[in-house]
Amino acid sequence: MREPIRVGIVGARFAARFHLEGYRRVSGVPVEVAGVTSQTAESREAFARANGIKAFASLDELCDHVDVVDICAPGAAHEPLAVAALQRGKHVVIEKPFTGYYGPGTEDFRGNTFSKEIMLREALASCDRILAAAREAGKRICYAENWVYAPAIEKEREILTKSGGQILWMIGDESHSGSHASHYGRWKFSGGGSLVGKACHPLTAALHLKRAEGEARDGKPIRPAAVSARTHEITRLENFRDAGFLRTDYDDVEDYAQAHVTFEDGTVADIFSSELVLGGVHNWLEVFANNHRTRCNLNPTDALETYNPKEEILKHVYVVEKIGTKQGWSRPAPDEDWQHGYPREFQDFMEALATGREPLSGAELARDSIAVLYSAYLSAERQGAEARLSR
Ligand SMILES: NC(=O)c1ccc[n+]([C@@H]2O[C@H](COP(=O)([O-])OP(=O)(O)OC[C@H]3O[C@@H](n4cnc5c(N)ncnc54)[C@H](O)[C@@H]3O)[C@@H](O)[C@H]2O)c1
Repeated sequence: MREPIRVGIVGARFAARFHLEGYRRVSGVPVEVAGVTSQTAESREAFARANGIKAFASLDELCDHVDVVDICAPGAAHEPLAVAALQRGKHVVIEKPFTGYYGPGTEDFRGNTFSKEIMLREALASCDRILAAAREAGKRICYAENWVYAPAIEKEREILTKSGGQILWMIGDESHSGSHASHYGRWKFSGGGSLVGKACHPLTAALHLKRAEGEARDGKPIRPAAVSARTHEITRLENFRDAGFLRTDYDDVEDYAQAHVTFEDGTVADIFSSELVLGGVHNWLEVFANNHRTRCNLNPTDALETYNPKEEILKHVYVVEKIGTKQGWSRPAPDEDWQHGYPREFQDFMEALATGREPLSGAELARDSIAVLYSAYLSAERQGAEARLSR
């Protein structure tokens, strides 16, 4: 039996939870989650205790015991943690957004008014520093974009590639009533608002499908070429009437975004994201191809439909992410982690590392997603004028 791949998790909160569960569902490749580190002794020790793993006081200590460092820390910490782990000779798993621009470190930095040209340049430089560190170390980057692995997207990839289809247009959305994370809403921690935090998901799924189309037909991915975008701060409009159902405490980020992406072959994708949507998460991507049309419903799905006449009946039942009420009709997720793609994501990462191949969601896709997102901010700064992507 092969030695297990030893994984260390950085971060001990929301993302760390589903990453750990994802590793524990991997089959056929021995995997051991060896430990966790985070910013506070209290959080890492609580996480370690609850999950039967070791807590390490620093990334350096964690690196002594693992082969892979999995970064579940906020975006601003991704680059320094990834580069340090790669320099220690570890493979890295990096959550979304891959990296970004988090300001010059001055007190008066406000992301929504800061130059987007500088942001784009710096975000791409940050990507390139991570990619260079991986190249120098001879280690892999696994980009933890779960939409690539969502069963609905995987099935569409199969339909697309086996039917020899050409995608002409895609439209997709990830929206809900506001992030649960305390750091969200301040550009210096999250690197942007709805666009970077949410649109990254359907966007990267769309980029992935066009890559797969090109690779299947011509052995070469079809990549994004240009983007036009708008962003808005709807909950901070003077005349916004707060009825108390949406999170509204954003500081210097947008709460609505749309991006129109043009690919190298002239086909297009329209991606939406917002913090303005009641009724649970709204995650979907529709594909219009020359030979088929597919609606990928990630959440909600109608695998289960429940009618509940009284809120308290489902008091102890998890229904679906960010649903405001359980009363009336709802569509509980039978296995939300699975439908969001997490188990298949960690299966692919571990198989890729065990066999020395690229993961389906790897470094080039990660960099393309950041190039589109920050070019979209540049376009939005210019009221939607097209921004061409530079490689
Ligand atoms: N794919 C998804 O569906 C999904 C969902 C939620 C979050 N995320 C991503 O996962 C990442 C973490 O999100 P979260 O909601 O768990 O964040 P969080 O703020 O709830 O937790 C962050 C954790 O990282 C630790 N941390 C921060 N900086 C650190 C550093 N320099 N060194 C060591 N530990 C550090 C903190 O102590 C904390 O334990 C983010 O990149 C987020 O965008 C992805």
